Amino acid sequence: MAILPVLHYPDSRLKTIARPVEKVTTDIQRLVDDMFETMYHGKGIGLAATQVNVHQRVIVMDVQSTSHPPLHFINPEILDKQGEEISEEGCLSVPWVYEKVCRAAHLTVRALNKEGETFTLKAEGLLAICIQHEIDHLNGTLFIDYLSPLKKERAIKKMEKLKRRTI
Ligand code: NI
Repeated sequence: MAILPVLHYPDSRLKTIARPVEKVTTDIQRLVDDMFETMYHGKGIGLAATQVNVHQRVIVMDVQSTSHPPLHFINPEILDKQGEEISEEGCLSVPWVYEKVCRAAHLTVRALNKEGETFTLKAEGLLAICIQHEIDHLNGTLFIDYLSPLKKERAIKKMEKLKRRTI
């Protein structure tokens, strides 16, 4: 396994729309393993392949709940969304920024696992939010894109200031 470099905003590669995985190969299985290692290393709860500059539809997450083990999704598709929930989000590609975003509260997602089998999962709470956040990455969208222009500008300034301080 390997820790992969994570792209940071404003890297334009984060805007790439990821392609569907055509076949679950050993390369994809290795990608899933490397993404888990990268996510845990960064102390994140989710990661999309886009963030490690691989533009295929793969996401991983571990919301650290007893009811959900670490999960990975290949070619995830949201079949159904319900309700609304506002919660604070962060992102390994937008370090030091935490902002409130409104998402669907419940959803049903269908995907392949790394054995190439299709599964369907119902999710709510943090897991549902995380699935939506990671699928957004595959479509080139970041959570800060949902903020008002003023809030987004403030968030980016804060990130840049903290980045300068740590270099
Ligand atoms: Ni993210």
